[in-house]
Amino acid sequence: MCGIVGIVQKQETKIGKAIIEALTKLEYRGYDSVGIASIYDNKVIITKDQGKISEVSERIDVNSIKGKIAIGHTRWATHGPPSKENAHPHVDCSGDISVIHNGIIENFQRLKEELLEQGHVFQSETDTEIIPHMIEQQVKKEGLALKEAIIQVVKRLEGTFAICVVSNLNPDRIYCAKRDSPLVIGINTDRMFCASDIPAFLNKTRKVVLLHDDEFVTLTSEGYDIINFNTLEKVIRKPHIVSWKPEMAQKAGFPHFMLKEIHEQPHSLADYVRIKQPSLTRIAEKIYNAEKIFLLAAGTAHYSTLTGEHLIRRFAKKSSSSIIASEFESVNSLIDEDTIILPVSQSGETMDTIMAIKSAKEQGASILSAVNVIGSTITRHSDEVLYLYAGPEIGVAATKTYTAQTIAMWDIGLELGKLSGEINNSEYSEARKLYQQIPNIVKQTIVRNEARANHVASWFAKKNSSFYLGRGLNLQTANEGALKMKEIAYIHSESYPAGESKHGPIALVEEDYPVVFITPQDYTHNRIIGNIMEMKARGAAATVVIEEGDREIEELSKWKFEIPQGYSEMFSTIPYVIPLQLLAYYTAVRRNLSPDMPRNLSKSVTVL
Ligand code: M6R
Repeated sequence: MCGIVGIVQKQETKIGKAIIEALTKLEYRGYDSVGIASIYDNKVIITKDQGKISEVSERIDVNSIKGKIAIGHTRWATHGPPSKENAHPHVDCSGDISVIHNGIIENFQRLKEELLEQGHVFQSETDTEIIPHMIEQQVKKEGLALKEAIIQVVKRLEGTFAICVVSNLNPDRIYCAKRDSPLVIGINTDRMFCASDIPAFLNKTRKVVLLHDDEFVTLTSEGYDIINFNTLEKVIRKPHIVSWKPEMAQKAGFPHFMLKEIHEQPHSLADYVRIKQPSLTRIAEKIYNAEKIFLLAAGTAHYSTLTGEHLIRRFAKKSSSSIIASEFESVNSLIDEDTIILPVSQSGETMDTIMAIKSAKEQGASILSAVNVIGSTITRHSDEVLYLYAGPEIGVAATKTYTAQTIAMWDIGLELGKLSGEINNSEYSEARKLYQQIPNIVKQTIVRNEARANHVASWFAKKNSSFYLGRGLNLQTANEGALKMKEIAYIHSESYPAGESKHGPIALVEEDYPVVFITPQDYTHNRIIGNIMEMKARGAAATVVIEEGDREIEELSKWKFEIPQGYSEMFSTIPYVIPLQLLAYYTAVRRNLSPDMPRNLSKSVTVL
């Protein structure tokens, strides 16, 4: 996820300031580097650097960027770490064609090789940089006009993109195209905007045109012209007036970032599934050949490592231990050159995890991490990194990054299964097919359970204490569901292996006591029925997360959430956590709490 913006106006002004102002409204989409391409004196002028907008604007003289036309970008690194070179805009060899991009170009390696053979010189590690070079090739070698060249190029791109192009070849216009990444136009009397999201220009205009996939736009100070870039047919689309308040617009109309991020999961998981990471095979091989394996994390990330521990046992037939980062000291004496440490972290900045990694490194261990923030401290201490590609997460409660961490554990697990022969080639292909379906199942799960979660929350919000019970892999789902309820709704919630609850915790149960059961249709099903009966016999009110149509368990419950049929039992932990995220969110809202900023917590815990 990155933020892009373009402005084309009738009067020449300090356009740099206007671009920075608009980008600031998009900083929730990315904040590791900033860049602007403006056209002045018939030249493309690039100003860019690494850092947050506030930091970069102190280093560059924004007011000196003048002109009628400019595009700007705030980056969330995917290909290549945050750096000045990798910051957008990117240019062709001559510096005449400048491009900003949000999305992921899947076939960029192949296209880059082609361009290298044709003699193009690259300055960054990004997938984006191929675009200006491809356009240059079409214009300068094939003789196409700029617009036709861009159209030819976007037709060849695979993956997701929203791009804006400015060039001194046509200095009065911005060309834009999109597929699967957002792009909107804003209309003002003396200037036109294009941007990833409406907040970029909401303080200037409420007149908006939403662009659809495979559309190409020519934006001038006079107006906009849309065509479909495949058929070249003209598209007539009138603007509409948005009524959102600026703060709401930043959250895409959702009242809180947490809810927005819950809804983003089909996309973040699809991005993870889509991007083939060369480090995956190396990580799996190193784990498979290792003598000792310790997974390392804190909080929510720890629950994903418990899934990882389970999968290493199941697929590599090896024992491994998942260690809470702040407790690493207890295994320190076991670490040596034959040890693999697998840290998992959203921020890559959790101090407990960093200190444990440093100590393990000093003793010769290899660090293979799974991290969301590219270029973060943990990635810099790692020998290999598997990125989570979940985009920035603003809400303090981890949601989309938990499902990303969990899918990353599955990604490694399946590779281990193939390496060990635990799954044969056809089972592996079948599992990969089912794995591809996870984003869609998650989408259906959100649709099916959101209103219900809001309804159940009205009951849950009056409670002081609850249990979350699961078995097998879904013990992690119970752990994560209970943590969410604790941290944002402030309801004391404890998770246990369902079979363990009778060894003490059940003493707390009284009439109408909330107990949440995670009950997929797998080998845990019948045993969980026994656990529900035990709890009900003591007065507990069961909230169950079941597979659609599971009447046996439904009949024992007070409240139910349903996962649509058709998901693979293998990957159940991902869809099964979704209703629990929604339940925690709506319970917090019903208690008039702020889910995005729970008390006493911060997004990244950088103290020991
Ligand atoms: O950035 P990390 O994944 O390393 O953070 C670890 C925990 O601090 C984090 O998961 C925390 O538990 C979240 N608030 C959970 O919602």
